[in-house]
Amino acid sequence: MEESNIIVKILHPNDWEGYKGLRLESLLHEPLAFGSDYNEEKNLNHTDWQKRLADWVIYGAFNADILIGLLSVVPDTSLKFAHTASVVGVHVLPAYEKKGICKILFAQMFQGLLERKILKISLMVTVVQIRAISTYLALGFQIVGMAKSQLFYNGIYYDMYYMEKYV
Ligand SMILES: CC(C)(COP(=O)(O)OP(=O)(O)OC[C@H]1O[C@@H](n2cnc3c(N)ncnc32)[C@H](O)[C@@H]1OP(=O)(O)O)[C@@H](O)C(=O)NCCC(=O)NCCS
Repeated sequence: MEESNIIVKILHPNDWEGYKGLRLESLLHEPLAFGSDYNEEKNLNHTDWQKRLADWVIYGAFNADILIGLLSVVPDTSLKFAHTASVVGVHVLPAYEKKGICKILFAQMFQGLLERKILKISLMVTVVQIRAISTYLALGFQIVGMAKSQLFYNGIYYDMYYMEKYV
């Protein structure tokens, strides 16, 4: 796979089936990476998926028309927070990891944030997601705090870092 073959685009509500497939796969295989749970999302109907694609800005990375990576931006529409946004749902298919896909997704997103006049983005990451944390640090995010026992899964509480980056 050549990096130059990767196309990133903002997904449209019509892309809901492909988005649903990769999103559910990520929740199933990486339960500690996401606040949402597979069992919560598996029964969403097509209008739920379409609404999310309309409300959020969801970037998809494609290799030869196959959706291989996702990154979602949740804008804050309230007046005093409109310069901020949260990043959620970052995921790259295991077969495509360590090839720069996540960094390509973020590069496209940063460009879009500037156009939307968003100055600061934040995210939360479970402390055990080492690959994600090192990728975010390499992208210029800083750890600005920790939420203790924020995520509960299979009887265990996990701490999560707050990370931020000014665009
Ligand atoms: C975290 C995740 C999104 C990273 O995706 P990715 O596409 O592998 O990330 P990239 O390839 O852009 O960068 C990851 C690392 O690969 C390195 N890399 C990039 N291109 C490379 C290449 N051609 N050869 C070798 N290494 C490379 C990067 O330098 C980076 O290393 P670093 O962490 O030491 O800086 C992915 O591992 C994933 O989906 N994890 C599971 C879900 C998850 O944790 N999501 C985050 C929720 S907060």
